[in-house]
Amino acid sequence: MVLRYLTAGESHGPALVGILEGLPSELPVDRAEIDRQMARRRLGHGRSPRMVFEADRLEILAGVRHGRTIGSPIALVIHNTEWPKWTEVMGVDPPADPEGLARTGRGAPLTRPRPGHADLAGMQKFGLDDARNILERASARETATRVALATFARTLLAEAGVVVVSHVVRIGEVAVAEEAPEPGPGDQDAVDADPVRCLDPTASARMRDRIDRAKNERDTLGGVVEVLTYGLPAGLGTHVHWDRRLDTRLAAALMGVQAFKGVEIGEGFRTAEVPGSKAHDEILPRGGTRAAPGPYARATGRSGGLEGGMTTGEPLRLRAAMKPLSSLARPLATVDVRTGEPAEAIQQRSDVCAVPRAGVVCEAVVALTLADALLEKTGGDTLPEVRRNLAAYQQTLSGCGGRL
Ligand SMILES: Cc1cc2nc3c(=O)[nH]c(=O)nc-3n(C[C@H](O)[C@H](O)[C@H](O)COP(=O)(O)O)c2cc1C
Repeated sequence: MVLRYLTAGESHGPALVGILEGLPSELPVDRAEIDRQMARRRLGHGRSPRMVFEADRLEILAGVRHGRTIGSPIALVIHNTEWPKWTEVMGVDPPADPEGLARTGRGAPLTRPRPGHADLAGMQKFGLDDARNILERASARETATRVALATFARTLLAEAGVVVVSHVVRIGEVAVAEEAPEPGPGDQDAVDADPVRCLDPTASARMRDRIDRAKNERDTLGGVVEVLTYGLPAGLGTHVHWDRRLDTRLAAALMGVQAFKGVEIGEGFRTAEVPGSKAHDEILPRGGTRAAPGPYARATGRSGGLEGGMTTGEPLRLRAAMKPLSSLARPLATVDVRTGEPAEAIQQRSDVCAVPRAGVVCEAVVALTLADALLEKTGGDTLPEVRRNLAAYQQTLSGCGGRL
């Protein structure tokens, strides 16, 4: 792994923290672009009031000087603008009056774990009887850090001509039509302009109605997002070992987003149903001219742009399924761990459906994974070195000066 990152921070703590290590020097850093990406994470029909007001205040502490990376680890902080309301409940020091704090709304221990959330397993694992100790970190607020860090990865990918976009293809039982348009590399703003981040206007209207119905029924909904990446050269990742395959790493990154329970690469599940003659992508002769040949192309895109754990040079197509959120306005049955008696699960302010904005998080983790795979291929400590090495490799891919 060339590019690695770590995040820390609780949802209502003073701040979220992220560190990203392994970027080359001289990568331009646009603070406004990081803010813009974090704002995209707040998009979408079906948001709770808290999420809409939640503002992210970013500070870059290290790794950047005069608008460019300097090769050292990037360190950033996202301050919690609501921290003044939480200083006692989430304070580092023991509270002056623990019993008094436990009698306040926010300070009361949460002892009725939500089915489907991290509450109960986390309390058992860490030997804690207040679910707040678990949910504060399990909360998807943490994804703001991954989205912020991924902006650096996106910039690197853009320098290599690689663009990652996403759109929503299903909310609950409402899916886009098979022949519906899919976003190209320049279509992200058009997707984001739609309230559910879906490019198919008919499906979008039905998805919004479905979310409104779930809201009235005090229920929640999941769905499926598709992440498409354009401009990748063939040969990122490797077939030589399971944990270095790019499909392994992409699936792990997507499954590492809270509430994601399934990942499909290309037509992964459909290929299990059809014979081999209909499952693979036939290889076409090179495009271009004899003097300036192009890379190999494929007749179809069933593999999703990955073969043998490596990119094929075709668009990368990943789908990821998100389960319905487990904080329901009509709580599910649980047990109060304090009394052992049946109870209703705790209620936390929550979205009805977070699929549209979760797509932005999926883009982020895919971008971080691909930036890592790109740097693995090119090496390079400076951006010009990365560019040079990539250009040389791309020349061999086009059949100039190489055996393939
Ligand atoms: C962008 C995003 C927003 C989320 N918002 C909520 C929410 O509002 N309410 C909730 O209960 N879970 C929400 N989740 C999901 C929980 O964080 C997740 O279900 C929980 O951490 C347990 O993990 P698991 O579902 O992977 O088992 C969200 C997830 C993502 C990716």
